[in-house]
Amino acid sequence: MKHPDWVKHKELIEWVEKTAALTKPDNIEWADGTQEEYDRLCQLLVDGGTFIKLNEKKRPGSFAAFSDPSDVARVEERTYICSKRKSDAGPTNNWMDPSEMKSTLNKLYEGCMKGRTMYVIPFSMGPIGSPISQIGVEITDSAYVVVNMRIMARIGKKVLDVLGKDGSYVKCLHSVGAPLEKGQKDVPWPCNDTKYISHFPEERSIMSFGSGYGGNALLGKKCFALRIASTMARDEGWLAEHMLILGVESPEKQKTYVAAAFPSACGKTNFAMLIPPKEMEGWKVTTIGDDIAWIKKDKEGQLRAINPESGYFGVAPGTNEKSNPNAMASISKNTIFTNCALTDDGDVWWEGMTKEAPSNLTTWRGEKYDPNSGKPAAHPNARFTAPAAQCPSIDPQWEDPAGVPIKAFIFGGRRSTAVPLVYQSVNWNFGVYMAATMGSEMTAAAAGTLGKVRRDPFAMLPFLGYHAADYFNHWLQIGRELPNPPRIFGVNWFRTDENGKFIWPGFGENMRVLKWVVERVCGKAFALESPLGWMPRHKDIDWRGLENFTEEEFNDLMSVDSEVWKEEVLGHEELFSKLYDRLPKEFLFMRELLRSSLWRSPSKWGMEPERF
Ligand code: GTP
Ligand code: SPV
Ligand code: MN
Repeated sequence: MKHPDWVKHKELIEWVEKTAALTKPDNIEWADGTQEEYDRLCQLLVDGGTFIKLNEKKRPGSFAAFSDPSDVARVEERTYICSKRKSDAGPTNNWMDPSEMKSTLNKLYEGCMKGRTMYVIPFSMGPIGSPISQIGVEITDSAYVVVNMRIMARIGKKVLDVLGKDGSYVKCLHSVGAPLEKGQKDVPWPCNDTKYISHFPEERSIMSFGSGYGGNALLGKKCFALRIASTMARDEGWLAEHMLILGVESPEKQKTYVAAAFPSACGKTNFAMLIPPKEMEGWKVTTIGDDIAWIKKDKEGQLRAINPESGYFGVAPGTNEKSNPNAMASISKNTIFTNCALTDDGDVWWEGMTKEAPSNLTTWRGEKYDPNSGKPAAHPNARFTAPAAQCPSIDPQWEDPAGVPIKAFIFGGRRSTAVPLVYQSVNWNFGVYMAATMGSEMTAAAAGTLGKVRRDPFAMLPFLGYHAADYFNHWLQIGRELPNPPRIFGVNWFRTDENGKFIWPGFGENMRVLKWVVERVCGKAFALESPLGWMPRHKDIDWRGLENFTEEEFNDLMSVDSEVWKEEVLGHEELFSKLYDRLPKEFLFMRELLRSSLWRSPSKWGMEPERF
């Protein structure tokens, strides 16, 4: 099968031919990235039953897809880092010897594309041609992957033009693992019960088998932009992070860029697109990215960040006109919805979109929705794939090849107890410690135990391509090299009261916390010393428009319970004992410092008014 004449890279052509000889597809198609190609593939998916075209008046250019119920999220227990040495993958990753993994996979790949078309997708993570960007090529037997990749990354001919005859790229091989015998009818969502999401950090390649969903299949995202890129970043002195990037504009038109790491389904998209309460006149937030940040030091020693993606693969449930109007506008057209419910007029719906579910809903499983069944209409990890450029709050500099200057890092997990609304680390090293020991309750974004607290260092636990302790050392090293490193903050939007209700209203109201963060960065806001670092008092927060949130409630939200924190520190120790052989020595001193400041403070550290 001949390649198009715009493909000039000999080694790439050889890799494609070799892969075709192994996987035996019926056809090979090189994705050129044009609108015509996108439209044709969407039609193909409609004809094959994978896509349902949504009502053109309500949701122009949009489609709904429904996955197999066994293929609805990332599969962490099937994700492997196949470094040459097991110790380089570290104790937080699954590991298999690279040659053993390849021989396992090659058996699975043998003939796995029979009856299907093999698509070759050249893609750029980051603006094409930017010095921070990287190129990959994904081979896949899923047209669903091709159309999603066209939204999430820059793809096609223009990428190969930059790659030239012999440029280097990351090899990404993907198969749903569902060959078709002659005459066998395809299913709407082909996949395989056997799944492997494998990474080869030394040769910078990815092999994925058996899943068609999200980060398992759109290999530019978590596999490349985090697991492989984190390894590149370690080797080359930069950062590849599970972070949103946003800009804050003050009433004086001063712009401050901030990057924030929250675990999966913990509010990155919401925070990245935040609309401040109207009473906070003159404050504005702009969006650079909602999931991944690549961050490099410039000549002046300033960290600059780009969003390597060009779309949002966002959590649908909970998204509505009040919680995230910018996301609602972003998905108003040209969007692919996966595992959402369908309305009887050809639109989508999910839990939390409106208070009442519309009547005559069809669930993501294709059944008539019964509100009394206890089963949701949309899958809890239902997602939308939407072009970033459609976001009303998109920052004018979002595609600037130089990136934007980062002044603060924010880390936040989902914690119903223990962690206060906001606090600032006293310095870089303690900030790295805080981020490394962050805990979060697990969400539906990954297959696993819902609600259980686990340590999720830097929100990167499932996305690190190497030893977690080496990663902590890398962060400490980055700090040493920066003349004026960004300030580091911790937040928690998810603390609950004794009835299990969120204490903090969250969403747009998070602007009040963000304002304090930005003002701290600019040296304009007051903070009080606490056992965890610096904290705002009630009067240091802008309450215009939220006056009914009482000082007492705020103090509750900010309290630090020494007994609870002694338990928390035991959790840190558990993580450290796993990583002991490469753990930064500094961490043990910081843990002791934290312990002693907790020990010295009252059993429940709080901001009783009489203390000031
Ligand atoms: P990934 O795409 O999986 O990396 O997730 P994400 O971090 O972008 O998560 P997203 O913004 O999509 O948030 C998903 C969930 O968090 C939804 O259920 C939201 O309702 C909830 N959420 C977001 N922000 C807040 C907040 O400020 N307060 C509360 N209570 N919930 C929030
Ligand atoms: C996450 O789980 O953090 C996601 C979704 O952003 S996925 O792309 O499937 O990894
Ligand atoms: Mn994510």
